[in-house]
Amino acid sequence: MKTGIIGSGAMGSGIAQVLAGAGHEVTVYDNNPEAVLKAEARLKDTMALLTAKGKFTQEKASGLLSRIRFVPDFDALADASLIIEAIVEKLEVKQAVFRELEEIASPECALATNTSSLSVTAIAAACAHPGRVFGLHFFNPAPVMQLVEVIPAAQTDRDRIKRAVSWVKEWGKIPVMARNTPGFIVNRVARPFYSEALRILDEGLADPATIDRAMTHFGGFRMGPFALMDFIGHDVNYAVTESVYRASFHEPRYKPSFTQKDLVEAGFLGKKAGRGFYDYRPEAPAPVPSEDGALGQMIFKRILVMLINEAADALHFGIAEREDIDLAMTKGVNYPKGLLAWAEEIGVGECARMMDELYDFYREDRYRCSPWLRKNALQKAP
Ligand SMILES: NC(=O)c1ccc[n+]([C@@H]2O[C@H](COP(=O)([O-])OP(=O)(O)OC[C@H]3O[C@@H](n4cnc5c(N)ncnc54)[C@H](O)[C@@H]3O)[C@@H](O)[C@H]2O)c1
Repeated sequence: MKTGIIGSGAMGSGIAQVLAGAGHEVTVYDNNPEAVLKAEARLKDTMALLTAKGKFTQEKASGLLSRIRFVPDFDALADASLIIEAIVEKLEVKQAVFRELEEIASPECALATNTSSLSVTAIAAACAHPGRVFGLHFFNPAPVMQLVEVIPAAQTDRDRIKRAVSWVKEWGKIPVMARNTPGFIVNRVARPFYSEALRILDEGLADPATIDRAMTHFGGFRMGPFALMDFIGHDVNYAVTESVYRASFHEPRYKPSFTQKDLVEAGFLGKKAGRGFYDYRPEAPAPVPSEDGALGQMIFKRILVMLINEAADALHFGIAEREDIDLAMTKGVNYPKGLLAWAEEIGVGECARMMDELYDFYREDRYRCSPWLRKNALQKAP
């Protein structure tokens, strides 16, 4: 199958590698000719590295390279059967590109967007034939991460979605269906991992190193929230939080933190800037987490129950199926367990009780117990 990618940045190049790896012919277009050259050189380097490490045979690497061409010419996408857009995260720019795409793409061509936080329905609305538009949300790095969220727009034809799901499977990825709502599954359900950690910090209950240790040591998460935010970059992480907050009509659970806003304004964007919550300069002393076990347990349980509550709420509002919510978090962001399975392990009644305890203390809407937890707690009560 002939496929096209728009945008040769981190995601576009990664997705191109996935599609070419699955045997498709891929044309990658970028409107910045320099980005096109850089992406091509980067892919060659990646293939050389994978071959040197013995992960790819020479044959596989050269086969993959021969199936991808990088172009600065939009019309080169004309004969594709599927085009995936992975350009800058701005609605007006994406809408303009989809409008132009319809002028060159064949009427049967499926059009997908890799947007993380914009409305797929709003992007589809720019098209004369929105029935062929849907979201395919890959995770970074696309060749490594197994999850792809498939998001139908309000206008998308059912058949298009069925085909999208089978394509994702053919590419060796795991598709999960998500409703077109802010953050889809992963970027919605993961919000408390950051926001509750920031809240605990802002309340002066613990420092970043102690909170990070609580989540890795007691929770088994690969990275703590502050190390992860520093890794993602505060510009990116803060923008997603703000966008989900705005798009959810100011849901208090998604409220951004002034502490993170301050880091963005100061240019302390995390690891890439040498400074974020942690100081990455060589002379900086290593942070020392508190060894207080009771404090660590309290922090871990508080963040975990907020995550569980978020997953329960996503289920309550039909954002996705139960299995897909758990798959999304284990395969999209490497959580050690699915959150709804974790809720069963702890006991849904206990989770509801923990949420009520937080709510009773703070009297803030952000700590309200999800109706799904409440309902299931009542059903399971002796
Ligand atoms: N980086 C991530 O972790 C991640 C994960 C999932 C989804 N996404 C989404 O994927 C998309 C791309 O993200 P990225 O991190 O690859 O960005 P990036 O900045 O690395 O790359 C974007 C590329 O798009 C090109 N571009 C911009 N406007 C264009 C236009 N009008 N026509 C053609 N090319 C254009 C740029 O020149 C650049 O090369 C965004 O929608 C983002 O939200 C990103």
